[in-house]
Amino acid sequence: MDIHTTTLPRTTTQPAVRLVDVHKTYAGATPVAALRGVTLDLGRGTVTAIMGQSGSGKSTLLNVAAGLDQPTRGRVVIGDQDTAGLSPDRLTRLRREQVGFVFQSYNLIGHLDVRANIELPLVLGGRSTDEAWLAELVGSLGLTGLTGRLPGELSGGQAQRVAIARALVTRPTVVFADEPTGALDSRTGAQVLELLRDTARRLDQTVVLVTHDSVVAAAAERVVLLADGLVVDELLAPTVEQVTARMLGLGR
Ligand SMILES: Nc1ncnc2c1ncn2[C@@H]1O[C@H](COP(=O)(O)OP(=O)(O)OP(=O)(O)O)[C@@H](O)[C@H]1O
Ligand SMILES: [Mg+2]
Repeated sequence: MDIHTTTLPRTTTQPAVRLVDVHKTYAGATPVAALRGVTLDLGRGTVTAIMGQSGSGKSTLLNVAAGLDQPTRGRVVIGDQDTAGLSPDRLTRLRREQVGFVFQSYNLIGHLDVRANIELPLVLGGRSTDEAWLAELVGSLGLTGLTGRLPGELSGGQAQRVAIARALVTRPTVVFADEPTGALDSRTGAQVLELLRDTARRLDQTVVLVTHDSVVAAAAERVVLLADGLVVDELLAPTVEQVTARMLGLGR
């Protein structure tokens, strides 16, 4: 072996996103330590579910891992780019090219119709629309016939599916989804999850989703449990029962 080789070869097992000792404290009259030292590798092409009680830091973890917010301490590496070293412009470009994000609150633009909301990341990135891919997303998310509506004219579940289409339209390498099935009935939720998994497989995409639902989590290959800003446990390919039991354990 060449003793001068100091870096590992790039392989498909190189993580898509790497968090190293990430801390996030929200400043304020009473600062809140939302993340207190999270180290996590998210493997390429894997589906990971993040679980934990309300306030445990799940949304904060997603925001920081996606480069939407800066950690107070620690490193976030997306692909082979350390986000700390990037200018705001480069970070925005990295996000637009590689990251898709489904917000817990959807964040749809009220005066744009469904189609324009889905196309927004393409427009912002100066890219043209792949009509076939857009049609496939609209069809598989059950949004056919709704593309001319405004967000205010949609149900919560429909708005959530528009937010998912918007996150996938750029074919990002990493998709972060904050409770992407929270507003959906269990059947629609299962369909959306199947779409996320299928897209992940086809595009070799990494998916990280937050959920409170054991059935959704059990469909992931890996479940990471957060408590009070720390990773406290991890389950690989768990059953619904294992996830439920572990979540009940956290509540004690
Ligand atoms: N912008 C902010 N400013 C100050 N504190 C915040 C901010 N965002 C979140 N927090 C606090 O950080 C902690 C973690 O919040 P976070 O939103 O990450 O939790 P969560 O696990 O996503 O909860 P939920 O399941 O309710 O969505 C909470 O104590 C919350 O009150
Ligand atoms: Mg949250």
